[in-house]
Amino acid sequence: MSSQNPILVIGSTGKTGRRIVRRLTDLGLPIREGSRRSDPPFDWDRPETWAPALDGVDTAFVSFFPDLAVPGAPAAIERLTELAKAASVRRLVLLSGRGERNAERCEEIVRQSGLGFTLIRASWFAQNFDEGVLRDAVLAGTIAMPAGDVREPFVDVEDIADVAVAALTDPTHDGRLYELTGPRLMSFTEVAAELSKATGRPVRYAPISSEEFRAALTADAGPEFANMLTELCAEVLDGRNERLDHGVREALGREPRDFADYAEAAAAAGAWSTATREVG
Ligand SMILES: NC(=O)c1ccc[n+]([C@@H]2O[C@H](COP(=O)([O-])OP(=O)(O)OC[C@H]3O[C@@H](n4cnc5c(N)ncnc54)[C@H](OP(=O)(O)O)[C@@H]3O)[C@@H](O)[C@H]2O)c1
Repeated sequence: MSSQNPILVIGSTGKTGRRIVRRLTDLGLPIREGSRRSDPPFDWDRPETWAPALDGVDTAFVSFFPDLAVPGAPAAIERLTELAKAASVRRLVLLSGRGERNAERCEEIVRQSGLGFTLIRASWFAQNFDEGVLRDAVLAGTIAMPAGDVREPFVDVEDIADVAVAALTDPTHDGRLYELTGPRLMSFTEVAAELSKATGRPVRYAPISSEEFRAALTADAGPEFANMLTELCAEVLDGRNERLDHGVREALGREPRDFADYAEAAAAAGAWSTATREVG
């Protein structure tokens, strides 16, 4: 970094963002957090908060909430890139999702924006099982998902954060698209077995239909989130992502972390030992 301008981390309190903030802080780099709780606040639902967050920033990490799969995401990303250009931001690092049509539209908007960019296209996060929507399922001992026998190359968010920090701090990553997967294709049955081993409690996978999934999620999280996640699962858990990619190696020159190592470390850190842990 040639200047002391802060690096903006949008989604700074989320699974990815808080790890990026920690790494950048450890490197002694100035950061500006971007969340509804930060000062200035950044709120995707209040576009008037975006320009103040971008002011005086060279580089920004962009994690959209709740997911680039929602219909309004491309318009929001388009508006953000326009404001970023107006604020003389030079580079965006976009967190995207693998195999998602809408996410690819957002990538294209960033690619065509005239800004410098790095695109991080990630597969399903391992941390969904301890910091995200599937934590309660793991605690209850049954992961009920509309996933059949599909295999997914779950990626560790620690690896995503390492790639994002590399992209934010080293311009040689400009113009690159990194597809990040873990090192192993895993069925949800295999995931449940790893989680059983790591937690010392039985965890099983129960394949369910999309409609059963939607109904259960609606009761827990409301119809909007339930519809979004059900549609997203139907889109990306159809086998299209049943292949490994090598974005971690391309970006960092090392192999990604295996799911078993994630599960063991999360269990050792107490991830599933209390129901009150903050999730995102
Ligand atoms: N989960 C996966 O498997 C997966 C896979 C591939 C790609 N992705 C992508 O990852 C992104 C999510 O990243 P993540 O999982 O690291 O984030 P996250 O853990 O879901 O957290 C995002 C943060 O966004 C903030 N937030 C909530 N509502 C907001 C709003 N209206 N405006 C601004 N911020 C808001 C929250 O912070 P405050 O409460 O402090 O505001 C929260 O901490 C999504 O865009 C998704 O497409 C996810």
